[in-house]
Amino acid sequence: MAVFWSKASRGFRLMENLDFINCFELNDSEKDDLLVGLQSNDQKKLNSKYLYDKKGSELFDKITKLKEYYPTKKELEILENKTKEIKNILPSNSVVIEFGSGSNNKIKKFLKSLESPEEYIPIDISKEFLFKNAKELATNFPKMKITAICADFNNTEKLSRILKEKKSKIGFFPGSTIGNFCPDEAKNLLLKFSKILGENNYLVVGVDLKKDIKVIEQAYNDSNGVTAEFNKNILNGVNNLYGSGFDEKNFKHRAFFNNEMDRIEMHLVSKKKQHIKIRNKKIIIEDGESIHTENSYKYSIKKFSDLVNKSGYEIKKVLTDKNSFFSIFLLRVSTL
Ligand code: SAH
Ligand code: AVI
Repeated sequence: MAVFWSKASRGFRLMENLDFINCFELNDSEKDDLLVGLQSNDQKKLNSKYLYDKKGSELFDKITKLKEYYPTKKELEILENKTKEIKNILPSNSVVIEFGSGSNNKIKKFLKSLESPEEYIPIDISKEFLFKNAKELATNFPKMKITAICADFNNTEKLSRILKEKKSKIGFFPGSTIGNFCPDEAKNLLLKFSKILGENNYLVVGVDLKKDIKVIEQAYNDSNGVTAEFNKNILNGVNNLYGSGFDEKNFKHRAFFNNEMDRIEMHLVSKKKQHIKIRNKKIIIEDGESIHTENSYKYSIKKFSDLVNKSGYEIKKVLTDKNSFFSIFLLRVSTL
């Protein structure tokens, strides 16, 4: 396999049809935010994006195959059954940009619904996992150009510069990753995406829907303890960043539905009083105190429709599975 610097000299070209661009770096203010979240005397918190290093991505992939975790299965069901509807709305010869790409399961199905996609651009912060999946896809689709970008999808300034010369664009944002942001942040993120994509281009968003709370809570408290392992792995990410001494054995996983906020919350609950040193600062975690690690908002179709209408999109179609557990919104960027 040939490995050489790509013409753009921003990254590597690995195979004839595969480029890799790395523009992920944590800036000081993000590192500070992380510390502030842990030092809080109210609710301690960590940004859920730190769940995803190589191990975190592998664990998430394992979660998607668990019997209790319905979102992936339901979204795949929609992608499989609604190919015609998708093909009728989305333009041919487009560049597909996936925000938070993870594994290749969904994109393989989605690409089949499109006519002559020109290029696929997966964007993810989990570098090794992104690399591995992009390589696998480039091997399976030797005629399609793939440009993998390791970046924080919030960093739309950098992404805009890289993507500006691409013509017809389809953003793909499946998995209900949008649910990991509170509604105001979600609105801002969708607005940012609309700017990257440009007027009259499309965004396809997967959104988990409100349903029986028992079904939701089981999905985040699986019987094999994989979600617990995934949750605890966030501490390894923090240890790697700061050389801190979090020990996951001192925490237990907790996930529950917050009815007022329409969201599942994941927490790590301390099993004893702990003193953790990070960057010469001492953090005290009381016995029973929790670190809030993730929100996963569940929407009604009406509520998410209102949100996208306020973010500069026109709704072309909303697709659901047969139980209406999950939805896929096909959106067109209408105003900038
Ligand atoms: N699209 C896949 C994966 C969803 S999991 C699916 O639908 O199954 C969420 C993915 O988003 C993970 O791969 C994670 O690494 C990535 N991610 C989370 N926050 C991110 C951020 N701020 N920027 C880029 N990628 C992010
Ligand atoms: C990626 N994200 C939408 C998943 C979710 O359901 O919120 C992550 C996850 N957390 C626990 N299980 C899966």
